[in-house]
Amino acid sequence: MAERQSIHGQWSSRLVFILAATGSAVGLGNVWKFPYITGENGGGAFVIVYLVCIALVGVPIMMAEIMLGRRGRQSPINTMAALSREEGANKAWSLIGWSGVLAGFFILSYYSVIAGWALAYVARAGAGLFSGLDAAGVESMFNSLVGSPERLLAWHTLFMLMSMFVVAKGVKSGLEKAVTYLMPALFLLLLLLVGYAMNTGFFVEGLEFLFSPDFSKLIYTCQVVDGVEQCDISGGPLLVAMGHAFFTLSLGMGAIMVYGSYMPKKSSIAGSAVLIALLDTLVALLAGMAIFPIVFANGLEPGAGPGLIFQTLPIAFGGMPGGHLFGTLFFVLLVFAAWSSSISLIEPAVAWLVENREMTRVRASIWIGLTTWVIGLGTVFSFNIWSDVKLFDMTFFDLLDYLTANIMLPLGGLLIAIFSGWLMKKASSQEEFAMAGSAYSLWWTLIRYVSPFAVVVVFLHAIGLF
Ligand code: PHE
Repeated sequence: MAERQSIHGQWSSRLVFILAATGSAVGLGNVWKFPYITGENGGGAFVIVYLVCIALVGVPIMMAEIMLGRRGRQSPINTMAALSREEGANKAWSLIGWSGVLAGFFILSYYSVIAGWALAYVARAGAGLFSGLDAAGVESMFNSLVGSPERLLAWHTLFMLMSMFVVAKGVKSGLEKAVTYLMPALFLLLLLLVGYAMNTGFFVEGLEFLFSPDFSKLIYTCQVVDGVEQCDISGGPLLVAMGHAFFTLSLGMGAIMVYGSYMPKKSSIAGSAVLIALLDTLVALLAGMAIFPIVFANGLEPGAGPGLIFQTLPIAFGGMPGGHLFGTLFFVLLVFAAWSSSISLIEPAVAWLVENREMTRVRASIWIGLTTWVIGLGTVFSFNIWSDVKLFDMTFFDLLDYLTANIMLPLGGLLIAIFSGWLMKKASSQEEFAMAGSAYSLWWTLIRYVSPFAVVVVFLHAIGLF
């Protein structure tokens, strides 16, 4: 096949692709979401399921997304349309791209609100407000932030503007350089926090919570109440763990596919995917190792929910030497990690608007930013004036998070696995991967049988089928 070129340009090297994709993967999912959902779902056993999902579902699907993107060299919508034509499959497969664009809007709408919390904490840390804080103090600090729609709105707006600015300029300039230095810096600060956690006297408890599995905590059963079967709507820890594997690796919605479409031809896809997954997992585990000892040392609740890191880390910074500086730096880096993820959430939509509507990147970013900002209002109000407005027992924020991470991303991933494993000709994927025969066979087995099977089994389990 004659090689396609992307009209949006190309990463200057494989290293840059890896940095950008790691920038997309490592974000609030690792530092904010992973600890709190681990806390809510009982710890060790949940972590094991999550790690298995990363290895058996995440890595093969990430390879598939990069491969499809690099072969199609367009926005995910057009890539899927072009590849299905080429492979003799139904054009409806471009729906993967459409659902990805929608998922990107939804995720960014609340991602930006949470990133706004991190921005607010930069200001608080910078002003020295953490010093000497105890558990009650951090709680009231957090509640006064999320309880105020005006403040949340202001920070959400600021973060949205930051994201639109970078996307408008083009993902390849600017942020790419920032990520090169900021990611390693975030990593070092997490190590520092783990060092602090070691001295809390509760490090072992923290590690046990994270790594010693109690499989009874995974059991998810439906109960018959008054002759009617009732399932707890969460879908259970298995669904949350699998959904998070997709979320944290940015899979199932086209972000990695669109980044793959800018990848140079000769780079190894398998090696890149494994490296990105390893780095992403390491950051999440370090965040967990830093946070749980602090949780136990201060008598906090591991299942405290979305505020968990904002109610634990300030205690650590408030009590350590140099905490003023480190605390500020930490939240700055968290904002950068969120920033480099947020731009990948809108890039698939921007690429499509540029290709099909002949819009400039600037106009496309403004439109998308504005729409997402409006949807984000629902999340802003979920924590205050709408906190009692619930559908299926979930607030607007819970609902969007559930719909995207637990349903849309795994479903997108399942379709990507089916397309690349069952519909695409073996010769095509083999040509695109250009890797050793045994590695290819391993991927082929995983993407055809293991990944789709795992996703389907977890879905069936979540709707209470067994
Ligand atoms: N992976 C990002 C994180 O962990 C979130 C994300 C999801 C980004 C999907 C892009 C696509 O924070």
